[in-house]
Amino acid sequence: MTVQPSPDRIIIFDTTLRDGEQCPGATLNVDEKLIIARQLARLGVDVIEAGFAFASPGDFEAVNRIAQTVGTEDGPTICSLARAVRSDIETAARALEPAANKRIHTFLATSDIHLQYKLRKTRQEVLEIVPEMVAYAKSFVDDVEFSPEDAGRSDPEFLYQVLELAIAAGATTVNIPDTVGYTTPSEFGALIRGIKENVPNIDQAIISVHGHNDLGLAVANFLEAVKNGARQLECTINGIGERAGNAALEELVMALHVRRQYYNPFLGRSAESEAPLTRINTQEIYKTSRLVSNLTGMLVQPNKAIVGANAFAHESGIHQDGVLKNKLTYEIMDAQSIGLNNNLIVLGKHSGRHAFAHRLQELGFELSDSEMNKAFIKFKELADKKKEITDWDLESIANNEIHQA
Ligand code: KIV
Ligand code: ZN
Repeated sequence: MTVQPSPDRIIIFDTTLRDGEQCPGATLNVDEKLIIARQLARLGVDVIEAGFAFASPGDFEAVNRIAQTVGTEDGPTICSLARAVRSDIETAARALEPAANKRIHTFLATSDIHLQYKLRKTRQEVLEIVPEMVAYAKSFVDDVEFSPEDAGRSDPEFLYQVLELAIAAGATTVNIPDTVGYTTPSEFGALIRGIKENVPNIDQAIISVHGHNDLGLAVANFLEAVKNGARQLECTINGIGERAGNAALEELVMALHVRRQYYNPFLGRSAESEAPLTRINTQEIYKTSRLVSNLTGMLVQPNKAIVGANAFAHESGIHQDGVLKNKLTYEIMDAQSIGLNNNLIVLGKHSGRHAFAHRLQELGFELSDSEMNKAFIKFKELADKKKEITDWDLESIANNEIHQA
């Protein structure tokens, strides 16, 4: 599915496998990345940033295999990150070769602090490198994204100049990263508005946003960005990523879903005003969250919005009473809308293989027949010792099988 220059939905760009994996302890092997990429395609993301092909042979292989197997004609666009240097761009292009729809995402910092201490480059050098490298990426693929790293702390006037050059050189998406999670929602919204008003050729590209959660503001910043013209959101499942993580996909998507009227940027276009704001199949959210948590080993905090264990639990008597009378008293969305089955079958020693396999599938596991056989034996052994088997038990059994295989 090719991303259109003037999208009629908010484009969801998932970077779980690139920026998300960039956090301590979350390293994934190629097979695990493939499993997640397939699930991201089922979830309905528009773009999968599958890795940073130049970073390591493992990353190259992951991007290449995802391009081959998930990057089908009607599947998501597959993307690789590349620094604004020829070797990175060439490697990204090679890794992406098999994908039907492919994107190179190249970046160079624009904040003075990054230029002075990290890159040791002048602003003038950046103004020369960016168009040259965007044009180089464009010689391999039609779909090129450019990111001015640390845009949130860059001089806006300089940023406008860089973006204009990137678009003139062929960038079809310009992504505005709040790399260190420093901006506030009103500042970030104003930054996007400033870009829309001051970059003369901005209508030839999609404005994207990318943000980290150091102050817990990433999702709020993105929603403000949508109100000011951003049409692509870069996010990760469960918000995993560098330091405090990235903007969480499930929070953004459900905010746009539950508050569609408030955030709808397409309201002027009559035919689209009633359509969902993203192409995400929200019923796949819970399963995707569990899968990513299991494979990365990054636990989801119980009070995490949307996918935390307590997100739909009601503890106090007053709340329970209200919900029993009418769910809307304390629930703003239905658990089923994220694929959480309210009528969970409780598994125990009398449960059969079918119920066991079904629940594992709901939790996002795809086990081979032999893995399933071994997992089922372990489940029966555990069920003899415990009255009720929880999802945590099942996940640990399934993980064991996947990692021993
Ligand atoms: O946080 C960041 O600035 C990035 C860029 C490479 C987009 O991850
Ligand atoms: Zn990032």
